[in-house]
Amino acid sequence: MKVLILLLLWTIECQVTDYSFIQVLDYNQDFDPIRIKVFTKKLDKDNPNHKLFKKLIKSAALFTQDTYKVRRSKNNIVFNVKECHHIKVPKKHRKRGIKNADFVLYVTETDVAENWIAKSSPCLYDQNYRPVAGEILLNNHHFSKKMSKLDKYERLGTIVHEFTHTLGFHSRLLNHFNMTEMIQDKLYLKSPGIMEYAKQYFNCSSLQYLPLEDDGGPSSQYSHFEKMTFNQEIMTGTASRDTVYSKFTMLVLQDTGIYQANLVNAGRYQWGMNQGCLAAQGGCDSPTICKLAKNERFCSYNYQHIQFCKPSQKLAECGLVTALTDCNQRRCFNYQDPTTLLHKAKCFKSKCTSLGIRVKYNGEVQYCQSDFATISFDGQIIQCPVFKDFCNDYSACNNRGQLIDGKCRCDLGFKGKKCKKLL
Ligand SMILES: *[C@@H]1O[C@H](CO)[C@@H](O)[C@H](O)[C@H]1NC(C)=O
Ligand SMILES: *[C@@H]1O[C@H](CO)[C@@H](O)[C@H](O)[C@H]1NC(C)=O
Repeated sequence: MKVLILLLLWTIECQVTDYSFIQVLDYNQDFDPIRIKVFTKKLDKDNPNHKLFKKLIKSAALFTQDTYKVRRSKNNIVFNVKECHHIKVPKKHRKRGIKNADFVLYVTETDVAENWIAKSSPCLYDQNYRPVAGEILLNNHHFSKKMSKLDKYERLGTIVHEFTHTLGFHSRLLNHFNMTEMIQDKLYLKSPGIMEYAKQYFNCSSLQYLPLEDDGGPSSQYSHFEKMTFNQEIMTGTASRDTVYSKFTMLVLQDTGIYQANLVNAGRYQWGMNQGCLAAQGGCDSPTICKLAKNERFCSYNYQHIQFCKPSQKLAECGLVTALTDCNQRRCFNYQDPTTLLHKAKCFKSKCTSLGIRVKYNGEVQYCQSDFATISFDGQIIQCPVFKDFCNDYSACNNRGQLIDGKCRCDLGFKGKKCKKLL
């Protein structure tokens, strides 16, 4: 089991201004897809990971540009400062500026044996506090071109996460746009767009606030969703195998007033859905928080991942449901270990058919014909899943996209007719 890694923002300590303002004078009235100009010149061309970096950055930029619209800038973005965090801003960008861009992103790299994968922060704002430039710093230590495709997919999630920080998912901006409230020493989100959605989503009409992450130290605190509530959402502070870019993140950026989000790009996210107010608060008594059961395994709601209950760093007595294995092109099935009687889970090749769910193991085929029925392989009893959750518009797209009008619309990081291809 790999240790989860915090995606920290910049350490802002002792720097009075780690950002600057410029006067970008004029914007169009209409919203159009954001034009992000990415500068990767600072990346080391001799690094064996160079191609991988460029590919991941490109995919993240395409996704972000397709997800957010802005009022486009009529002017060039001209830097009035010499630095964007670690980056020395090229002279050209200070003189003539960058044209046909709404956001400028500098990408650079380092290699340190520390547990963060990437860091990021906006560095330049316009007169209305709209971020117009930022930096992403990649930690080469956690990348390798020999990584499995699923690991690369996880890294893509991290890079998209950093893009989202630079666009404004950052406590400083959330505070500026009056989207937060401090209650008993903890910061909460309260902006109207996200709260309206959250009330419906959690089925909690009295919900007024959503918790932001208080862990992670001064650089990261309150710039992420609370992990205990949002688990695998992309803007929580730790990377996970089952990351989802959900509507929640899109609505946060939209509530700043700067962006319009293309909500159809949201991935399938169901964590805590319809589970009430306690699920939204994310305390130990939340129905989505697991009670620690050592060595037990279970399937995710979409039967895509094998999960376990990981002890929470915050609360000793309860745990966080955490993905351990991505079944990739197979699906997860629950079973009970006959000798220990522990709950376990395993990935099997399977297919939704008119005769039920066809499950294959070691060349042998069995059919699941009703929910919670059992089948057996080599004397091992396997529990059948809930058919309507297992076989749906998502299963037709390898669980990585949704079938819309007979076509798969793939989630972030997947492509192909049935979303089976990664990147
Ligand atoms: C935030 O609220 C304060 C106080 O009500 C107000 O003065 C300020 O203009 C608001 N800021 C924004 C960006 O709306
Ligand atoms: C929402 O909660 C109410 C009671 O609080 C319950 O009656 C209703 O079935 C719930 N709706 C969903 C979709 O779970």
